[in-house]
Amino acid sequence: MSSPMYEPVKIGVVYSTTGVTGLIESTQQSATLFAADEINRAGGINGRQIQLYLRDPGSIAANYASMLEQLIVEDGVRLFMGCYMSSGRKAVIPVVERHNALLFYPTLYEGFEYSRNVFCTGTLPNQTCVPLADYMLENFGSRVFMIGSDYIYPYETNRIMKDFVFERGGETVDEIYVPLDASEDSYRAITDRIAALSPDFVFSTVVGVGVERLYRSFAKSGLDPNAIPIASVTTSEAEIAAMGAHLGEGHFTSASYFQSVDTPTNRACIDNYRRFMGGDAVTNMCWEAAYFQMHVLANAMRSMGSSGSDNPVSLLRVLPGMEFDAPQGRIRMDEENHHAYLHTRIGRCNASGQFDIVAAMPARVRADPFVIAHKPAEGGQFESLAPTVAGSR
Ligand code: ACM
Repeated sequence: MSSPMYEPVKIGVVYSTTGVTGLIESTQQSATLFAADEINRAGGINGRQIQLYLRDPGSIAANYASMLEQLIVEDGVRLFMGCYMSSGRKAVIPVVERHNALLFYPTLYEGFEYSRNVFCTGTLPNQTCVPLADYMLENFGSRVFMIGSDYIYPYETNRIMKDFVFERGGETVDEIYVPLDASEDSYRAITDRIAALSPDFVFSTVVGVGVERLYRSFAKSGLDPNAIPIASVTTSEAEIAAMGAHLGEGHFTSASYFQSVDTPTNRACIDNYRRFMGGDAVTNMCWEAAYFQMHVLANAMRSMGSSGSDNPVSLLRVLPGMEFDAPQGRIRMDEENHHAYLHTRIGRCNASGQFDIVAAMPARVRADPFVIAHKPAEGGQFESLAPTVAGSR
């Protein structure tokens, strides 16, 4: 006999494992499976097991919305983890709002958004681009070349970054957008242009399969990362592992989390993840947000009593203000804006495909989705660090 108390908690998982962003979203799906397995093995959520409903939208924005709506209507799912590209998230928002469902979104994005039905656990420009602008202008110079994939996230992020560069006395020498599935030849024409213009650094918001094509073309155009590095908020250990460390070495990424974060919590999490996956699985910023948001949701449900409510409206009351010891450090769900206080780090890719952390904010940074502050607002001054040695992790 089943009792309502022990009914499983249904969670829809809508990450693409195919299509242009299939590589990075596969890591988000794996993180979700891993976190759910940890929770279920530890007895579930007040005795209730998590039951996942996996779908693959194939990196097509409309598919995220239709698959999610189908799970709501046909399977009674009201809690969701998913989306990478902002185009997918924007397609999903009207669906979760219409059905009063909840989406947990674990990807860096451009901000300028609030939905009662969405919690964002990835970074915003104030948590990554502000410190990256400070660091790159101080260490490399003020002439910036911007390149992005051709959709909303890169347009908006580059617009914000252009303001930061301008305010710091810098100049954008060119700005180019590339179709998501552009060939390596298309990238080669752009990297040849970068060589001709000789900026001080390149700011990239290229995503998905384009990342490898950009970095490969960069090398083929004879560009040297020591002279003109690429600074990105999207290139992670996952893309570097796919392209080969030799193409990533010397380039910079700003993120809340790197696999090389040297803390007992992160090391233990990676060890457990590798046991779960088998082999030397690589982690990254999007993996980490997908992982910790599942635990935050589980803790929110536990906080509501014996059976743990999975009612989205009840969860809205308890999620704001929740804290969790994530692999990046302790995070906090903001009380007001449905984003998160996150840590801020700048990493430089080394010969092992890992990031040496060369600068960090000393304390977690509050989310500022509407970019009211254009300087590091909290946590004091940005600190340059002696690079940590990432070792074999
Ligand atoms: C993104 O589109 N938010 C990476």
